[in-house]
Amino acid sequence: LEDPTFTTTDQNGLETLSKAALLLKDNKVVAIPTETVYGLAANALNAKGILQIYATKNRPADNPLIVHISSLKMLRSLLMNEEIPQIYHSVIHKFWPGPLTILFPKSSLIPSEVTCNQETVAIRFPSHPIARALITVCGFPLAAPSANVSGRPSPTLASHVMDDLNGKIPMIIDGGQCSFGVESTVLDGLQASGPAILRPGGVTYEALISIPEMNGLRVYKKDFVDKNLENTPTTPGMKYRHYSPNAQVVLLEGNDVHSIRKLVEGEVANAVKSGNEKIGILRTTGVSDVQGECHKQEVNIKGNGIESDMDNGTMSRETIEYVLGNAERPQQVAQELFKGLRYLDEQKVDCIIVEGVSEAYEGLAVMNRLRKAATRIVREQK
Ligand code: TXA
Ligand code: MG
Repeated sequence: LEDPTFTTTDQNGLETLSKAALLLKDNKVVAIPTETVYGLAANALNAKGILQIYATKNRPADNPLIVHISSLKMLRSLLMNEEIPQIYHSVIHKFWPGPLTILFPKSSLIPSEVTCNQETVAIRFPSHPIARALITVCGFPLAAPSANVSGRPSPTLASHVMDDLNGKIPMIIDGGQCSFGVESTVLDGLQASGPAILRPGGVTYEALISIPEMNGLRVYKKDFVDKNLENTPTTPGMKYRHYSPNAQVVLLEGNDVHSIRKLVEGEVANAVKSGNEKIGILRTTGVSDVQGECHKQEVNIKGNGIESDMDNGTMSRETIEYVLGNAERPQQVAQELFKGLRYLDEQKVDCIIVEGVSEAYEGLAVMNRLRKAATRIVREQK
């Protein structure tokens, strides 16, 4: 396996990177952009910085961190016997750098605080130019969970990190909006039972299964509504309620766009009846929207809140819609998902009604996050 090439020439950028690297060398934490979500980074080889991460995020001590690298040489230095397991070779070649995290048997270089005493370490080679360059400038790997307060939706803008961690960390590097918008896929190829996706994310099941070594790939779909399953999670991070805005989240799962729209109407009526004054709706556009206009509409309204008054006869209630994107293009929906949840929270809505999408491609990660965020799920009978 050979390293991908990478160069950066931006002078301002280099100054920012050296400033960040100095903080990180001093075992401080720095928020950094990645192609998935913003990360809260510290030197992965020093327990002092790692403990800062847990404290800053208020993260449960049994939820291990992902280690970010910028070369395969760096990767080898972190592995037991410096060896990359054969099952990962094609996957690494095809998907790194990128939104894929892989479990490896760890070497003793990795402090137990990173892995919460597990024998495996989760490693990712990010494609974001700032993340890559920063790791290279540091010369050591960076442990980084998402840069939100634990339980909140992951940050996909620097301002989201500010909202959660302002005053608690010395530096945030602003790299604009994250292009994937949901976290990386976590892949475990070390089990005798065959490879498995522990957390769906930026690299889709459909993309991974196209690799011969991933033959028989399984997806852990546990959402841990069952309390017994909560006690035996396959990836520690998935056992907590997560990605949650302050408002109650109602997730609607229908068989097609029309039935989902019906469910939305019903839920809005319910919300009004139970006294909610401000109702948020996370919508998708779909094939049933006027063809030809559909695209233009997405571009204009995607990412903006559209406020309208809804008259229920006696009182005026406010609904605030946020359009995630085209349901047929789950990557759009994924990119806007956490931003939409945070936007509606900022509007101080009492509840958020969400139109579910199909679990194909990035939709699998979207639905996984929404089920973990939901206080209630309404499913249409098949
Ligand atoms: O895209 C991402 O992965 C982002 C960016 C910043 O890289 N990071 C991120 O980290 O989402 P975090 O901490 O929010 O999620 C890490 C996930 C958790 O579900 C954790 O339990 C799992 O990875 N994980 C970490 N180490 C593990 C291990 N050794 N075995 C099983 N799961 C592990
Ligand atoms: Mg997280």
